[in-house]
Amino acid sequence: MTHGGGVNSYAKNSKLQEKSLLETTPLIEKAIEEVCSTHLPKRMLVADLGCSSGPNTLMFISLVIRVTGECCDKISHGPLDIQFFLNDLPDNDFNYLFKSLDQLDNLVAKHKNGQAVVALMPRYYVAGLPSSFYTRLFPEKSVHLFHSSYALHWRSKESNDKGGFLNDWNIYIARTTPKSTIRLYQDLFDKDFSNFLELRSQELVHGGQIVLTFVGRKNDDVFDGNLNVFYGLLAQALQSLVMEGVVEKEKLDSFNIPIYGPSVREVEAVVKRSKLFSINQIGIFEPNWDPYDDSEEGDDVVDPIQSGINVANCARAILGQLLATHFGESVLDVVFSRYACNVAEYLEKTKRGKHSVILMSLSARN
Ligand SMILES: C[S@@+](CC[C@H](N)C(=O)[O-])C[C@H]1O[C@@H](n2cnc3c(N)ncnc32)[C@H](O)[C@@H]1O
Repeated sequence: MTHGGGVNSYAKNSKLQEKSLLETTPLIEKAIEEVCSTHLPKRMLVADLGCSSGPNTLMFISLVIRVTGECCDKISHGPLDIQFFLNDLPDNDFNYLFKSLDQLDNLVAKHKNGQAVVALMPRYYVAGLPSSFYTRLFPEKSVHLFHSSYALHWRSKESNDKGGFLNDWNIYIARTTPKSTIRLYQDLFDKDFSNFLELRSQELVHGGQIVLTFVGRKNDDVFDGNLNVFYGLLAQALQSLVMEGVVEKEKLDSFNIPIYGPSVREVEAVVKRSKLFSINQIGIFEPNWDPYDDSEEGDDVVDPIQSGINVANCARAILGQLLATHFGESVLDVVFSRYACNVAEYLEKTKRGKHSVILMSLSARN
């Protein structure tokens, strides 16, 4: 993700992810109620996995504090301490995140004023945890609630390094992608997600909860997902630079986005096979590509050109660093301005682009 708080930063371009967090709020509230009523813990350990460095993590923390306070009130539980761990890869902008934590007291105070009934606001402590969530992060049976938003569609580095993706001209699964490469994407998802569940099940207390939001696919057909189109339009921008001799074809062919958007059925299959968790709830949320466009299905996109720019800004905040590392910083402006045009053209023709976001809550069976 792009560091800092500048115009291209993730912190300033994470409205899409904020919408998903709002949509997931009832699942998070339910998970906290479950933890409080089943365990009556004195100290609750909560982890946000793949937290990045934007305002959404603060929103999540303040939500947990408010809901936990309300739960304690309801069941006349004594004051409770919450220890938060904010996890991301070591090259995440933890400094920016830590500096923004001083806004947290204000956010929590806002909740306090709005909810005068909450007498027992929990005390909270926040720490960073720089490491991959595809590794063991916590001691055995120590965590009450795991949350991860918009991160689990990223494949593990270990899996990617074994690479061998043949994918001429493309950067994600497209109609011309060889079957062997599609299999590779699917196997990596299967391996990574199984590993993730196994690790979290070791770390969760008995009856602990997990709430996950990640990009997926509505349909079973691997070619019929939002990501095929979304990254297809980005591939077109890169292809145009290859045609003009600005980017070498080998550079494009050796690049694949280390992301896979699974179908709901693929996700359910891994959870069931693991026998480690019960699925409390699973569903799809479909926000518009442009997070600033709240128009409904069937309506024309009000301003496709502006929507193209908004979509490109969000994509740049997420993928800019990755593309800069592979293709060089100098191509970023042109790649994302062409991407904005491709998206605008697509929206004009089809009327709508929608993400498919899988929302899921799990209870540990341990
Ligand atoms: C789009 S951001 C989401 C940030 C935040 N959760 C939100 O909703 O705004 C995805 C984050 O996942 C992190 N991530 C990807 N793979 C990871 C891994 N294996 N371990 C920890 N974090 C990871 C990325 O570094 C990135 O910061």
